[in-house]
Amino acid sequence: MAESMKGLSRSHRCTEVNNSMIGNEVTVMGWVQKSRNKGGIIFVDLRDRSGILQIIFEEANVGAESYAKAEKLRSEFVIAVTGKVTKRAGAVNENIVTGDIEIVASDIRILSEADTPPFPIEENSKTKEELRLKYRYLDLRRPDLQKNLIMRSKVTTLTRAFLVEEGFIEIETPTLCKSTPEGARDYLVPSRVHPGSFYALPQSPQIYKQLLMCSGYDRYFQIARCYRDEDLRADRQPEFTQIDMELSFVDVDDVIDVNERLLAKLFKDTINVDIPLPIQRMTYKEAMERFGSDKPDLRFGMELTDITDVVKDCEFVVFKGAIDAGGSVRGINAKGQGGMPRKKIDALVDFVKGYGAKGLAYIAIGEDGTIKSSFAKFMKDEEMNAIIERMQGENGDLLLFAADRTKLVYDVLGALRLEIAENLGMLDKNEYKFVWITEFPLLEWNEDLNRYQAMHHPFTMPMEEDLPYIDSDPGRVRAKAYDIVLNGTEIGGGSVRIHQNDIQEKMFEALGFTMDAAYEQFGFLLNAFKYGVPPHAGLAYGLDRLIMLMAKEDSIRDVIAFPKIKDASCLMSEAPNVVDAKQLEELGIELPQQPEN
Ligand code: AMO
Ligand code: AMP
Repeated sequence: MAESMKGLSRSHRCTEVNNSMIGNEVTVMGWVQKSRNKGGIIFVDLRDRSGILQIIFEEANVGAESYAKAEKLRSEFVIAVTGKVTKRAGAVNENIVTGDIEIVASDIRILSEADTPPFPIEENSKTKEELRLKYRYLDLRRPDLQKNLIMRSKVTTLTRAFLVEEGFIEIETPTLCKSTPEGARDYLVPSRVHPGSFYALPQSPQIYKQLLMCSGYDRYFQIARCYRDEDLRADRQPEFTQIDMELSFVDVDDVIDVNERLLAKLFKDTINVDIPLPIQRMTYKEAMERFGSDKPDLRFGMELTDITDVVKDCEFVVFKGAIDAGGSVRGINAKGQGGMPRKKIDALVDFVKGYGAKGLAYIAIGEDGTIKSSFAKFMKDEEMNAIIERMQGENGDLLLFAADRTKLVYDVLGALRLEIAENLGMLDKNEYKFVWITEFPLLEWNEDLNRYQAMHHPFTMPMEEDLPYIDSDPGRVRAKAYDIVLNGTEIGGGSVRIHQNDIQEKMFEALGFTMDAAYEQFGFLLNAFKYGVPPHAGLAYGLDRLIMLMAKEDSIRDVIAFPKIKDASCLMSEAPNVVDAKQLEELGIELPQQPEN
């Protein structure tokens, strides 16, 4: 029978009790982690969100009635215990902060009994994630997830305090918005009052925050929920949280400055990591050439080397064909991996094929200098030597090459570089390597749409020196956009926005929009700009990704209370679900056929 709280109040959380309080009476409450009956004495590990405290029940101290209750205790019962803090009689437990004390119980209430949970509530759980997500409310009792969510709360609290101190104002923006086709796919919400019309959930507060700049709020921020209907991965959820900000009367350096100081504060105050400022900056072009990625992981080297000029006249059709078609040949040097077994090299070949590569050519240099290579038979000795020299190949090295369109070569080698580092255990989660990536291309060609698309969004300012090319050669125009990358993950991004009508018009032209179409979609923003708009710029972090890295987790699911799985469903609540015919009727929605249940 569950007892009530009447007349009882908690004096401490479990680990707030310590050895300076010996002799004091305390009342603690929580869940039974485990209970052991040693005949005449019952040991209970009591758990709350702070940690674990040992309680002992002896009939002489607690009385017959309470002792009988203690005998019934099983894992996950919720109890309240009053008792005296004493020095631990048995061996000290070094693994917990309260390991040198225990509570000698004088009273107990069973606040709630519990069924046996479907998996043990313990740190570093080995239970399959699906089961844990189905019972997420139990999973969330585990100390590792509790630590993550507590860290998340600390980060948002620190962020608010820092930004307010810097003159930012926190403003909420709508989550029932107008759908705009640029960007990822929208989540739509049907309107009951306007049958056939839909709201979109925001992919980000982008347009609203720019309007707030027009309205004079100067420095805005928001911890904003965003929604994107895109394929999920370890670092992508359909709904996620941004730390979103926008600033007026600023340029790139101003945004970067305040954000570097924010990051330094967050890392120091939550995980005691010093970020040396200023954070390194690298142009998009340099990042692609050196790392094959616009979010390079700088915790290790293994940089890309261009060997196109070295092999341009060789007989190997794979290399020659790629170069003749306008592509390139590039390689990476996996230092000390020359002895990699054939099987493992084949696995790397399969890996790159997953990225669209047609193959992966290699040169393995033995410790004695002997060479094994998948393409030596097509090459002259001096060509092989020239390649090895360019790659700075030494005895014991493994050289890997991709030949294709340059963009594909970058993708392939960028991914391969990470795969090898991962396989070799070179990625240390305790090391934090930040880099700003700058000078992104303004536009990227979309093969499917057969037109340019904004790489960031249509309001991103081109670099002033590239403006002359926006009509003649739009692909070459760079943007005043920046991403902040940490250990190979894009944790945030932003840009300076266009506040000049003529440039905005050119941008829409380059995107293949007529001005009518642009007004149709973004009219309220474009009109607002007619009434006096300050130059402005901003940035948004993926809060979930930031916490994932701070907490040294592999997935943002581990830092979100109730995450969704790969197919965007929730295993616990079973959302999304089929709704009543009546609800649909009210919304004026007819389904093509009755969905099967
Ligand atoms: P962007 O689209 O780059 O910029 O988003 C900002 C940051 O949000 C995170 N992020 C995600 N996190 C989890 N799941 C997702 N599906 C997901 N998608 C994005 C990333 C990313 O860097 N309005 C602009 C910002 C600006 O220009 O000010 C924007 O939304 O960490
Ligand atoms: P083949 O003559 O097709 O057997 O190819 C010889 C070697 O070149 C093999 O190791 C292939 O994996 C590799 N190879 C094939 N296509 C490419 C490519 N596009 N880039 C790099 N290596 C390739």
